[in-house]
Amino acid sequence: MDFGFCFRLAVLVFAMSTAHCASIPDGVLHMECHDRYFMIAVDLSFSKEEPRFEAVDETGVYPITEKYAAECGYSINVHPLPNHVELRASYLSCHTDNQADEVFTFNLNLIVTHEGKEVTHALNKTCSPSVPWSPREVTCELNYMEVSVRSEISCPSGLKKDDWDSIKPAHGSTTSDWQVMFQKADEQLPPLNLSEARTQGYTFSLTDGRLVFRTPYGQPDSFSTEVNGVPVEVVHATLFSRQSWVVLMVDLVAACSMDEGSYDDSGYMMWVTSEALYPSTHSTRLNIGLGGELVAQPVAEDKGYFVEKHNTTVQISIPYNVDGGYRKSFFSEDLFEFYVFHLYLEQILVDEDLVETRLRSHRTLSTPMLSRSPVTENQTVLEDRVFTVHLGDLPEDVLLAAVNLNGQDFMLPFMNTSSSIMMEVVHSNNSHGYTLKVPFDDPVVMHQLSKEDAVLQYSLDINYTLTVQPDNETFYHMAFIEATFTDVSPPAFDAVCSESGISFKLDHRPFDYMWVISIGSDPLTSELAAQNGYIMSNDSQSLLLEVPLFSHGYEYKEYTLNGFSGTFEILMQDHETAEVQSSTVKTCRFSSTEFILCSTDGKMTAVADVSLAMPSGGNPARTNLVDKYCGPKETDGTRALFSFPLNSCGSTVKLDRGSVTYQNEIFYKRRNVNKKNAVSDQATERVMIQCTYPLAGLHRLFSVYRFEADAVGAGSIIHTNGSTLAFQSSTIKPTKALTTTAATRRPFRAPVSYQPAFHPPARYIKVSRFNKPIRAATKDAERNSQVKVDVSKV
Ligand SMILES: *[C@@H]1O[C@H](CO)[C@@H](O)[C@H](O)[C@H]1NC(C)=O
Ligand SMILES: *[C@@H]1O[C@H](CO)[C@@H](O)[C@H](O)[C@H]1NC(C)=O
Ligand SMILES: *[C@@H]1O[C@H](CO)[C@@H](O)[C@H](O)[C@H]1NC(C)=O
Ligand SMILES: *[C@@H]1O[C@H](CO)[C@@H](O)[C@H](O)[C@H]1NC(C)=O
Ligand SMILES: *[C@@H]1O[C@H](CO)[C@@H](O)[C@H](O)[C@H]1NC(C)=O
Ligand SMILES: *[C@@H]1O[C@H](CO)[C@@H](O)[C@H](O)[C@H]1NC(C)=O
Ligand SMILES: *[C@@H]1O[C@H](CO)[C@@H](O)[C@H](O)[C@H]1NC(C)=O
Ligand SMILES: *[C@@H]1O[C@H](CO)[C@@H](O)[C@H](O)[C@H]1NC(C)=O
Ligand SMILES: *[C@@H]1O[C@H](CO)[C@@H](O)[C@H](O)[C@H]1NC(C)=O
Ligand SMILES: *[C@@H]1O[C@H](CO)[C@@H](O)[C@H](O)[C@H]1NC(C)=O
Repeated sequence: MDFGFCFRLAVLVFAMSTAHCASIPDGVLHMECHDRYFMIAVDLSFSKEEPRFEAVDETGVYPITEKYAAECGYSINVHPLPNHVELRASYLSCHTDNQADEVFTFNLNLIVTHEGKEVTHALNKTCSPSVPWSPREVTCELNYMEVSVRSEISCPSGLKKDDWDSIKPAHGSTTSDWQVMFQKADEQLPPLNLSEARTQGYTFSLTDGRLVFRTPYGQPDSFSTEVNGVPVEVVHATLFSRQSWVVLMVDLVAACSMDEGSYDDSGYMMWVTSEALYPSTHSTRLNIGLGGELVAQPVAEDKGYFVEKHNTTVQISIPYNVDGGYRKSFFSEDLFEFYVFHLYLEQILVDEDLVETRLRSHRTLSTPMLSRSPVTENQTVLEDRVFTVHLGDLPEDVLLAAVNLNGQDFMLPFMNTSSSIMMEVVHSNNSHGYTLKVPFDDPVVMHQLSKEDAVLQYSLDINYTLTVQPDNETFYHMAFIEATFTDVSPPAFDAVCSESGISFKLDHRPFDYMWVISIGSDPLTSELAAQNGYIMSNDSQSLLLEVPLFSHGYEYKEYTLNGFSGTFEILMQDHETAEVQSSTVKTCRFSSTEFILCSTDGKMTAVADVSLAMPSGGNPARTNLVDKYCGPKETDGTRALFSFPLNSCGSTVKLDRGSVTYQNEIFYKRRNVNKKNAVSDQATERVMIQCTYPLAGLHRLFSVYRFEADAVGAGSIIHTNGSTLAFQSSTIKPTKALTTTAATRRPFRAPVSYQPAFHPPARYIKVSRFNKPIRAATKDAERNSQVKVDVSKV
């Protein structure tokens, strides 16, 4: 196709103000050479208002308006993603300096506004095409179609108008000037001269080697059609001129796929074009890319693109998350996202004469609004007693700014002092989330206990404040979460009797903290356990409490020769009101050959082995206390049970620093009683029984009317080898004159002490220590008293 062509381009000359020079910060301006165009990108943040551009050449300065751009080969697009304005200028654009179709220089002014003033930056860029020009090249820009064809013949000269006149041209033209005739489907429109065509928005120009035709979309002479289902816009221009007897005609067809793209749920953005836009065999090659970068089809397919051909239709499928695509979140009643792709596609078509057509398409494709509702996931594990809520699947441009819990605002991160935590969790797929942890007992958590239904409910109303970046658009996401415990009842221990005490076991339940476990009125703590001689072990699973016999808190009853019963009670108090709501009470029978119990109401009860304190073959029933009228309540072959008020039956009382001891002795009653209180000759042993009470824990001694102690006394049964005389001499009789009370704390020393027992084979030694303030006589003295017990066999 060797058509010669001469062309005159009318240019408008604008008188423009001179450009100022001001420096542009680094990173704000990018100027690049692409295969067929200059790309000038300016960061949107650089200018208060959207930057403007002017094309500059030796004939003048031309503001690039929307209309002018489409006519002259410029395309200006604001890309909120990635937040820049991009000017693409075709190498064949009106004001580009073209040297032999090989070196192109574009001079332009960038006009930005700073503090209300316009600043003009003069810029220039020189580029050489990276690939040689094909015989026909078509660019489907966003705002125009441009076709250029090779023209190897230079303008014929010396031809005259009249020569043309003699030949009747097919289209009835009678002028030698170049005329253009548009064809719309089958309709032929009347020819126009080029200046008329220019005023209608069409541009024809001639470079060193190429004829260029450019048209905006939607011209009156364009027509839309479908090629195998692909919507296509076509402008068919035929240029002709009568040169002497030769009619020169150039057929220029601009045809572009107008497909707007479609999105399918599998995550692909699809765009279709046709191979049939220009004559071609089926050996079309494709180069595909985003943002102006092209790669060959196989490379693109490796990146996840799909290319399918049906008949002449080419379908490009772009994976939604492909490199080079843009994603943006958007809030409107719900959170949405969309993806934007600046597709650049090159089809290289070869016709039967092996003439190559390069068809380039710039298309901006965007997905519909895709729902991207934040998801809150309840990850609470009741047993942990912590609300765990994950706000997940948030796009990377959505950030958490604050959170409101049950009406209370919290800025993030939480204060160091808060027991709540907010953690960000980042996923590999560019989504992220936030995990919120709020302990049930945090003051912000609401709780409700319904005693009737035995249900305990915690609830947390969450109002997340989220922002969409970079616009900082704020929206809220709500979540309500609750945790319900059913069968909420005070804890109940399992109790088991053992030989030496009672073992209690409690399996922890998450809501058990609602009760305070106490012994008497003292909350059970490891300190209390240590003080009272309890053995406590507590882990996350269960609480084990072993209460040895005779330790603080027991009550004893039902004494017989075979033993006695001991009762231990554990109370469950409401942790707010301290009201006792339930208790675990365990009573066990304890048996022992010998034992002594000193009750709080002043009773001494002892089962003692008296076999050595009487003649062999003697009957324990014939034993008595110092007061011979005090006999045993029960006996068997070797043992006798005595139970009597402390200060009766001839007990002696000994006051020592801080304690009072009542002592009595078991004697064998001989048949002929000549010598009162005498021990049988055959008796080898004396058996003394005694109870010791700390004075501080006593409210009254028997010196008054009633004995009252906070805690049981420490009893001992003392078997000794000592002489009767020694014992007798060391006793003092209880006397009414003794009026010491615990409250006075007057140092009182017994005038004589008991003869110390050597090797006392005591079965039970109770060591008590209650040093208490004088107030000890009051009721709350009980709480602080402590009793230590050793159960030992000597
Ligand atoms: C092109 O721009 C550079 C600076 O970017 C400047 O030095 C040079 O003079 C300019 N050339 C023309 C012809 O304006
Ligand atoms: C082109 O055509 C218009 C109207 O037909 C006419 O007014 C104008 O003079 C013509 N221009 C040239 C350069 O022939
Ligand atoms: C190709 O196009 C022809 C005619 O347009 C049609 O009959 C045929 O079914 C098409 N084939 C495919 C695979 O689409
Ligand atoms: C809490 O604050 C203190 C001092 O400001 C700091 O040393 C500590 O690391 C903080 N702890 C946490 C968990 O942030
Ligand atoms: C991203 O990954 C997370 C965790 O693997 C998953 O829960 C989430 O659904 C994923 N999001 C998307 C959009 O694929
Ligand atoms: C969430 O918090 C915002 C800001 O405080 C408030 O405007 C909105 O009404 C709250 N949403 C609900 C459901 O309480
Ligand atoms: C975003 O909004 C928050 C509060 O609404 C404000 O403190 C912050 O400065 C804003 N950031 C930007 C970049 O606008
Ligand atoms: C959240 O999780 C807890 C514990 O698994 C459960 O009791 C509760 O019913 C769940 N749902 C809501 C809406 O809180
Ligand atoms: C036992 O441990 C649990 C948790 O490990 C704790 O909540 C409870 O207060 C502890 N109880 C006592 C009596 O120390
Ligand atoms: C009493 O003393 C004798 C001799 O010293 C000894 O054999 C006996 O075991 C002692 N009895 C007791 C109960 O200590």
